[in-house]
Amino acid sequence: MKNILITGGAGFIGSNFVHYTLKNHSEYQITVLDKLTYAGNIHNLETVLDKIEFIRGDICDRDLVDELVAKTDIIVHFAAESHNDNSLKNPWPFIETNLVGTATILEAVRKHDKRLHHISTDEVYGDLPINAPNQKFTESSPYHGSSPYSSTKAGSDLLVQAWVRSFGIKATLSNCSNNYGAYQHIEKFIPRQITNILSNLTPKLYGTGEQVRDWINVDDHNSAVHTILEKGDTNGQMYLIGANGEQSNKFILETILELMGKDKNDYEHVKDRAGHDQRYAIDADKLRAELGWTPKYTNIREGLKNTIKWYQDNDAWWRNQKAEVEQEYARNNQ
Ligand code: NAD
Ligand code: TYD
Repeated sequence: MKNILITGGAGFIGSNFVHYTLKNHSEYQITVLDKLTYAGNIHNLETVLDKIEFIRGDICDRDLVDELVAKTDIIVHFAAESHNDNSLKNPWPFIETNLVGTATILEAVRKHDKRLHHISTDEVYGDLPINAPNQKFTESSPYHGSSPYSSTKAGSDLLVQAWVRSFGIKATLSNCSNNYGAYQHIEKFIPRQITNILSNLTPKLYGTGEQVRDWINVDDHNSAVHTILEKGDTNGQMYLIGANGEQSNKFILETILELMGKDKNDYEHVKDRAGHDQRYAIDADKLRAELGWTPKYTNIREGLKNTIKWYQDNDAWWRNQKAEVEQEYARNNQ
């Protein structure tokens, strides 16, 4: 058995990673470290709490992080402030958690000589033009953060790279595209629209809705992370994770409406996001060619159908947050 410390394991991707690991990788003994911010939810783990150790705490807490890193073999670092719109209103939690928190983990990893996998995003590369299908992000694309979220994630990647180069820590990094699936907070695009429809509220599309995101099922992201844990080069190698899932926001929203039996034009255009990234697209050739990973769930219609069903079946999970989330958006005319 190996001990694995999962930071942010009560959030969207982290909790799916915990479930995926318990199902597919019995070789790991799991500890989750999560602050349970507004985005973390202990209910995401309630069915497995007897199989894991859960610690409520902050990745910026040096003593706690030191103690937990000392006891583990591997750290998979998901914990972050993750929503662009929030970062435009108040960047400070992003600077604390994404930068100071990552540095805190790196110092403990260095001291105790443990293996780190750092979870990052394609947003560190800024954006691509909408009408240039041959342009995609690769591991050598330059960093160009657009928001405090993407820039603090970019900064966290650079910190990891510096700790590899100067201190010789064993680390890998992965930069994934937009995830969808169960347990995603309803502030995010897909669950916001699904729960709007389930609440008889009109779905909200920012600006023209022509912006493109490269959607990936959360289990495909997590299977890729496991592939990197098993076969990745710990000399600071970075792997882009994506499943060729490019779609415009407008297409995604219209498909959700159609799958939920509504008129596909029944939505409103609202104020655009400041600095809105136009297009993300991942070239995942390195991960596929060097480590032999392939995604399993590449039918976005099927994926949306299953995600809609999850929010329908788990009304209690999101319902009491809905009014507050929408109030916050309404304050910004979104
Ligand atoms: P999320 O917001 O759903 O979850 C973040 C989790 O981190 C929450 O459980 C929260 O309580 C915890 N957390 C926040 N600050 C903390 C702190 N200071 N100490 C301990 N725990 C803290 O985020 P997510 O969408 O699951 O994203 C997880 C990771 O994946 C992030 O690093 C994000 O940048 C990256 N990522 C996300 C996507 C996406 O589409 N959501 C795509 C690529 C990469
Ligand atoms: P989001 O889920 O916030 O992810 P990210 O900013 O990391 O890509 O948004 C996905 C896309 O959807 C993005 O282009 C902004 C857009 N969007 C809307 O059109 N309406 C909404 O209500 C939200 C939250 C996002």
